[in-house]
Amino acid sequence: MSSSNPSSLSSTSNADAYTYGKQYADELCMTFHNYSLYECALIILNEPDPQIKAQKTFAIYKAYQENLLTFEKFISPSSSSSVPLSLPSKPARPDYVTEVDARKVKSNSKKSMIHALIHAESYAIDLAWDVIARFGYNPETWIIPHDMEGTMSTYQSTSADATSTTVPLTQAPKEFFDDWIKVASEEALHFTKWRLRLLEFGGHYGEFPGHQGLWESAEETSLSSIARMSIVHCVLEARGLDVAPIMRTKFEKSQDYASIEILDQNHKEEIGHVHYGKKWFEWFLQYNHYNSTDTIDIFHKFVKTYFRGILRPPFNDTSRQLAGFTSEWYVPLSKADFNPNINNNTNTNNEETNDEETE
Ligand SMILES: [Fe+2]
Ligand SMILES: [Fe+2]
Repeated sequence: MSSSNPSSLSSTSNADAYTYGKQYADELCMTFHNYSLYECALIILNEPDPQIKAQKTFAIYKAYQENLLTFEKFISPSSSSSVPLSLPSKPARPDYVTEVDARKVKSNSKKSMIHALIHAESYAIDLAWDVIARFGYNPETWIIPHDMEGTMSTYQSTSADATSTTVPLTQAPKEFFDDWIKVASEEALHFTKWRLRLLEFGGHYGEFPGHQGLWESAEETSLSSIARMSIVHCVLEARGLDVAPIMRTKFEKSQDYASIEILDQNHKEEIGHVHYGKKWFEWFLQYNHYNSTDTIDIFHKFVKTYFRGILRPPFNDTSRQLAGFTSEWYVPLSKADFNPNINNNTNTNNEETNDEETE
């Protein structure tokens, strides 16, 4: 690993973060030559330090773009000799960041607000790699989960027989990996930009507690790619699109244009992440032979099953539409009668947190 000391960086513009990322990509890219993408994902998920997670992500993304990685579900002897690699139920996390109940996390100052963003982005790096490792190579996770089978029975398409003769896939299409490694690299950049920004304010990651709401949702959807896409990427990441204008207003009030620049660039990329969530949600439904006319209904069924509570307006309709979501996808989920068994004040998969908690 490089010995460069990022804390010595004094400027935190977007350009600096890109330069910082490129530096690590160039330095470490060849380290991963002939590694499989699968084992690269495990390396990141088993790495506790988010700064190193980000640096390695930059390097692996470059190696991926230069076709240095292999696609088989393979762990090379050199990689596994030091630390046995496995897919963790929860990624390794830094011991210098205290995790507390979400309702105890405050973000009432600019430093704590940016800290919350850093924390969420650090988990977002793990989430993207977890999608690659957990779902990219396990077609059994693509089928409808048992607890949804009864709910879904009315939707089954008769086209199943027509396609059942095709050769079964053993791993996701390359486009799946293209999309999610791009997400991972962008999350690493978001993490890096906010971390550098906090340094400029005299703060550091770990200065405040964080919570693990994002990962709790990941664990609850760990057996189903459709549930994961629905909740983590089409609900929680989409919630981040709604929150961005609120945060922008706060930065405007303090005339913090450097933070606004970071926020705006990240927001454009988050629209892409939400789009990928919808794209692969739809792909997994097609894999299960569901008709596209039922897509929105099925999405609502998954949200009702895997998400506690209702969505909170106001919605950023413009950004959601850019991500591919018309209002019929999400407005019904904000109605009080959407999930009548849930008290609106109940914990709601991260929704009870402060607005700044969403990446
Ligand atoms: Fe992000
Ligand atoms: Fe994201």
